[in-house]
Amino acid sequence: MNTGHRVAEPLLEPSHLAHQEGERMDQHIPVEAGSRDGVAGIGRIVAVASGKGGVGKSTVTVNLALALAGMGRTVAILDGDIYGPDVPILLGVRRRADVDERDALMPIGGGLAAAQRHQPLERHGLGVFSLAFLVGENQHLLPGNAALSGMLIRQILFDTDWGERDYLLIDLPPGTGEPQASLTSQIQLDGVVLVVTPQSTAVLDTTRSYQMFREAKTKILGLVENMSYFVCPHCGERLDMGGDNEDGRPALPTITAPVLGRLPFDPAVSRSTNSGRPVVLSEPSSVVAAVFRDIAETVDQTLYGGGGRPG
Ligand SMILES: Nc1ncnc2c1ncn2[C@@H]1O[C@H](COP(=O)(O)OP(=O)(O)OP(=O)(O)O)[C@@H](O)[C@H]1O
Ligand SMILES: [Mg+2]
Repeated sequence: MNTGHRVAEPLLEPSHLAHQEGERMDQHIPVEAGSRDGVAGIGRIVAVASGKGGVGKSTVTVNLALALAGMGRTVAILDGDIYGPDVPILLGVRRRADVDERDALMPIGGGLAAAQRHQPLERHGLGVFSLAFLVGENQHLLPGNAALSGMLIRQILFDTDWGERDYLLIDLPPGTGEPQASLTSQIQLDGVVLVVTPQSTAVLDTTRSYQMFREAKTKILGLVENMSYFVCPHCGERLDMGGDNEDGRPALPTITAPVLGRLPFDPAVSRSTNSGRPVVLSEPSSVVAAVFRDIAETVDQTLYGGGGRPG
């Protein structure tokens, strides 16, 4: 049940955005002690989630990570998408098509000995570990076993040597089932970034995700509206992508959260997916890259209050 949260202004109203931006300075969140024993070297753990598939979660994860790194933060990514672990591909890490099952085995239920702990790969200045590293590119992982996916994500979180990092970003699969439920109930997240597109189905699905994180008492850092508009490269006209009302905005939302940024649809993003160099690196002067840098500034302001990492 979600009593108690106020009926929101329309999700994407400019006035709403301005109002929320003004609140940034008040959002510093102290991290409480406990429930982070296995990841003591990590300053802030942030999930990137959405109720909807294909809205750009993985794209946001890798570009936000790179934008934070560009600010001097040390960042790692845990690819927690058991159904479509895309982070390695977005970062240009390819794997063998198939691996021997024995190479993919992890002991379930117990921590790994120090010598067996996973080492994150270093790529573009980011640490990365993915469930995909346990299988080949053409293989799927534990089909149909949702409970195990929750267990696995916890395990790779705690059995990977992340070292000292200011941030660990966790890219999640779509939906509100597993591994999201295990993650929110057993790991202290510092916040979640919700990714949404302007269409009402995406907003509806993301509203479910929003409710789930609220119920889990995870701080909603804000919404990223992806593929929000398109600027014609020939005439410069700006076209809004979707939105169901006459004013072009979705009819629903009961989401009250800051809008961290609106990203245009930009074919450079798709190109960067293929090249393994996310757009923040490959096209740093693009609007998309600039919006990602703004989002990173806001997230960092919220989670570190503009300061350095506490000792
Ligand atoms: N702003 C954008 N402009 C153009 N293409 C984009 C943009 N954002 C994402 N895409 C493209 O949309 C597709 C889906 O993006 P992505 O894989 O990040 O979504 P996802 O939410 O992680 O998907 P899944 O639910 O399958 O994990 C990719 O091909 C990506 O390149
Ligand atoms: Mg994804």
